[in-house]
Amino acid sequence: MIAKIGVASLLAASLSAVSAQTFQRLGTCPTLGCLLPPDQSDFLPGQLFDLRVEVHAPVNGSEAAHNGKPDEKFKVTIAKDGGRAKDFADAFNLKEPALEKWTFNWYEDLFAQDAKKPSVVNVASKAYRKIALYEPGTYTVTLNYYNGEKTTAKWVVRDLHTKKRAKNVIFFIGDGMTTNMITAARLLGHQSINGKYQTRLQLDDFPVLGHQMTHSIDSYITDSANSASALYSGHKSTVNAMGVHADSSPNAFDDPKVETIVEIFRRVRKGVWGAVSTAFLADATPIALSGHTRRRSEYGSLIDQALHGVTNYSWTNHGGPDVFFGGGAEQFLPGTGSYQGKDYYAEFAKKGYSVSTDKKSLLAADNNKKALGVFCQGVMPVWLDRNVYTDNLKSFKNDPKGGKGPALDLPGLKEMTLKAVDILHKRGGKEGFFLMSEAASIDKQMHVLDYDRALGDLLELDDTVRATIDKLKKLGIYDETLVIVSADHGHGFDVFGSADTEYLTAQKDERAKRNAIGVYEKSGLSQYTKKDGKISYGTGVNFPTNWEPRYAIAGGVGAAPDHRENYKVHKNGPRLPAVAMGSEYYVNPEDGVDGIVINGTIPTSEAQGVHSLTDVPVFALGPCQETFGGTYNNVDIFYKIANCLGLAVGKKNC
Ligand SMILES: *[C@@H]1O[C@H](CO)[C@@H](O)[C@H](O)[C@H]1NC(C)=O
Ligand SMILES: *[C@@H]1O[C@H](CO)[C@@H](O)[C@H](O)[C@H]1NC(C)=O
Ligand SMILES: *[C@@H]1O[C@H](CO)[C@@H](O)[C@H](O)[C@H]1NC(C)=O
Ligand SMILES: [Zn+2]
Repeated sequence: MIAKIGVASLLAASLSAVSAQTFQRLGTCPTLGCLLPPDQSDFLPGQLFDLRVEVHAPVNGSEAAHNGKPDEKFKVTIAKDGGRAKDFADAFNLKEPALEKWTFNWYEDLFAQDAKKPSVVNVASKAYRKIALYEPGTYTVTLNYYNGEKTTAKWVVRDLHTKKRAKNVIFFIGDGMTTNMITAARLLGHQSINGKYQTRLQLDDFPVLGHQMTHSIDSYITDSANSASALYSGHKSTVNAMGVHADSSPNAFDDPKVETIVEIFRRVRKGVWGAVSTAFLADATPIALSGHTRRRSEYGSLIDQALHGVTNYSWTNHGGPDVFFGGGAEQFLPGTGSYQGKDYYAEFAKKGYSVSTDKKSLLAADNNKKALGVFCQGVMPVWLDRNVYTDNLKSFKNDPKGGKGPALDLPGLKEMTLKAVDILHKRGGKEGFFLMSEAASIDKQMHVLDYDRALGDLLELDDTVRATIDKLKKLGIYDETLVIVSADHGHGFDVFGSADTEYLTAQKDERAKRNAIGVYEKSGLSQYTKKDGKISYGTGVNFPTNWEPRYAIAGGVGAAPDHRENYKVHKNGPRLPAVAMGSEYYVNPEDGVDGIVINGTIPTSEAQGVHSLTDVPVFALGPCQETFGGTYNNVDIFYKIANCLGLAVGKKNC
């Protein structure tokens, strides 16, 4: 309760030490005056955004100040390149926005959370909506509040091209994919003789490789909503948020928005766009192209935003995806999962979309029409189950039409992506297209420690990239299409040796089982491309032929719940490493029964592994490829793409 005696500036200094830590009042706002977008934000010239201003008055807790009464007379100004500061609303010819007020709670640390003693904050706020900065340069935005307090934000409008160098962009995202996983997938799918690979991944042949940092605006581990949003909008945000800077208000849709690549591509270039994913379509990576919310779990609303754009606030319209392929029928079938209970198959059809719900109808869909394809409920079954352990498909209750049975006629990432390219090429015409294609289950299967399923989907991604490049050549658009393959974040996975699965099973003692792990020279060579001692590709070139070798890769992740490891493929379907007993997760007694118990490293309330800190690779091919070398931030990918498409709008600010 030291806060009450503090002089304002002293108070601000002591506050930042507290609130910049893991429990945050508002991550981007260490002082009591918040500007969103905050300090250090970058913009594409002409990119639309909202500004949210908040003044906080903590009622109690360590920051209690101003008797819990927020300043309602705060002033906001903007100045360019050290010039004269202008009233913010005047500078954008806006009517002064209405004052909004609300109250929110937060916990200052784990002790407060255990004691259920939240700190309460009263807020006064304004939102300046749908504005843009056109002239490159540095802008200083200042919030003046509490009679002499100041929060300033330095914003940079980058000096970018208005002329296009690429007509089309295909952005592949291997969700959660790291260099370690790519290395392991290569080992599984490609044969090596005396230290030399006889075939390589398609990714290995990309001319340019870069590295992107994935951290959030206010935490160093990101989730997929926030990281996708950074890649698509050039603005970092907060875990669970997309297309917005997270504010403190109760409404998850009123947060200040930033325009995404497909919204800009549509508005500036009149190009078309599409999304393909092996996740459910309302999942973060596909839906962040068009979604604006602080809460990624608003699935129904987000599907509505994909079709109609933002309807709650004045905003630009992205025109709807020309291609939208993936899983997640529960947000399309009329009922509890869809927005207002409506039938979104019908809503899309009303807007002229063809609707396919299986591979057959997908391949037959008219390339001249916009296309919706929803092939199952939930996440799409993975490559390993669709191609090797196919009986598992029958156990799913994921009929895209809402029945109780399984979805059996499923396209893979490759079929969906190639069809998407055909349609987008046709419909984009001379304006071009933007396609995002996501291999979602690299991440999903890493979460459940099912490394074989994750790596199978990584090999499927590589196979898809290879086929897509061939398709671009056939269509005659290879030279005008920028192809990027990257990830949104990683998981701490690596391989450290091999596991003799027979020896491991035969040992009764847990410590003796560990001797089955072959490290260094005992790691030996990959057995996955050999059957009966011979090289063979049972499920297609560049996939393993044998998923059940005696000597399996021994790998693991840096963060996991308690689990038991036997290093064998999970033949009967995706793995369930831990189960709940009460509110805590323990080793699943039915998983890997002959294996070794590995104690968890994360909170016992976590059922799955979690994302990790690592930078992730960026592979680039095509126009502007050279701009993707080096190490940079995830937001830079947005600016590199926008620059290559020439999406900057250069004109004088009003
Ligand atoms: C703040 O006040 C609220 C409501 O009066 C109370 O529930 C909470 O425990 C208080 N928090 C602290 C940190 O004192
Ligand atoms: C609009 O905002 C309301 C109120 O916050 C919310 O319930 C609704 O889902 C939003 N609509 C859409 C389409 O997102
Ligand atoms: C795992 O943790 C438990 C305590 O929670 C301990 O009894 C056990 O020995 C540990 N097992 C291993 C393999 O480290
Ligand atoms: Zn992800």
